[in-house]
Amino acid sequence: MAAERIDMGGYTLIENAPLANRNTLRVQARARLLAEVHDASRLTELLDFPAVRQGRMLVLGEGSNMLFTGDFDGTVLAMATRGVQVEQDGEVARIAVAAGERWDDFVRWTLGQGFAGLENLILIPGTVGAAPIQNIGAYGTEVAEFIESVEAWDTQEHRVAVLDRAACAFAYRDSVFKRQPGRYIVTAVRFALPRSRELRLDYAGIREELARMGVAKPAPFHVAEAVVHLRTKKLPDPAVIGNAGSFFKNPIVDAATGEALKREHPELVSWLGNDGRWKLSAAWLIETAGFKGQRKGDAGISNRHALVLVNHGRASGAELWAFAQHVIEGVHTRFGVRLEPEPVVVGG
Ligand code: EPU
Repeated sequence: MAAERIDMGGYTLIENAPLANRNTLRVQARARLLAEVHDASRLTELLDFPAVRQGRMLVLGEGSNMLFTGDFDGTVLAMATRGVQVEQDGEVARIAVAAGERWDDFVRWTLGQGFAGLENLILIPGTVGAAPIQNIGAYGTEVAEFIESVEAWDTQEHRVAVLDRAACAFAYRDSVFKRQPGRYIVTAVRFALPRSRELRLDYAGIREELARMGVAKPAPFHVAEAVVHLRTKKLPDPAVIGNAGSFFKNPIVDAATGEALKREHPELVSWLGNDGRWKLSAAWLIETAGFKGQRKGDAGISNRHALVLVNHGRASGAELWAFAQHVIEGVHTRFGVRLEPEPVVVGG
């Protein structure tokens, strides 16, 4: 049965809405109400509907970092606002971007305009509004470095809030938005991007890829091209097979635990943080525990990258979540380290 759409001007309401095309793990979940928001200034009106106000709420971008373990008995807000505005240009440009813009389109636009900073973050799925939530990062750069402020609707204080970088409390795949789920609806992100910066080439594979491309003096767009090559080689494309990128965070352990593990497993891939703690490669732990390429029904771990949970076809959210737990348990039994999911896991 086709879901009924009601156009409210500025936003559209859909009851009992299918979400399969709105999450990259392709889970066949439904939302009691889906509100597609095209005009952020209409948010207050929408949030005031009793059905919305009294129920649960979830903000969704492209659904590239979300696992629905069942239907969502509440309102899903799909932010579909558009707009990129250069507010100030110079050595550093201030650029305000609407939450619904596609992240990768924005990165490519910045490179075309000659702005530096986001080149290592090309090809990450998702929207601009979702980027600060989990502080997206790849190849030695995190988006937090380039965010000046985040504009959001504060559902607790019932007002527009502008959070500067400190207030966002960014950490590895974490932020105030992730720690206080449901409180903020990100409406726009303001970036400060330099015209040039010292390029980050140290992350595994970038220099080798640039050499292979025959580039001796890289510009930001060369780095972006190298990252595109690396990502396409390593990560399965969500357009081909359902996945949400890295499903597990690289666990961070204290110095003693890290060192003991490294003594026992000298090949363990790990990175020493500034605080003396070790970040361990979850991919290595999962692969070494034997889960890479394994599956149960249609839920499995990619055979290309051990961090990626994949939906081979018709796996339900509950089946995917059960397989993820199976991996977490297996890694815990083998190494004593408990992995945590990176995406937001949403129950029914
Ligand atoms: N490795 C394995 N098996 C695998 C894949 C990797 O053992 O199947 C080991 C390799 O030894 C490799 C190490 O893991 O040297 C690290 O792999 P990779 O460089 O691919 O990085 P990652 O730790 O697996 C993180 C991010 C990715 C990001 C890459 C590149 C997290 C959870 N993931 O992955 O982010 O693209 O670094 O910077 O931090 C995402 O968040 O969705 C994501 C894809």
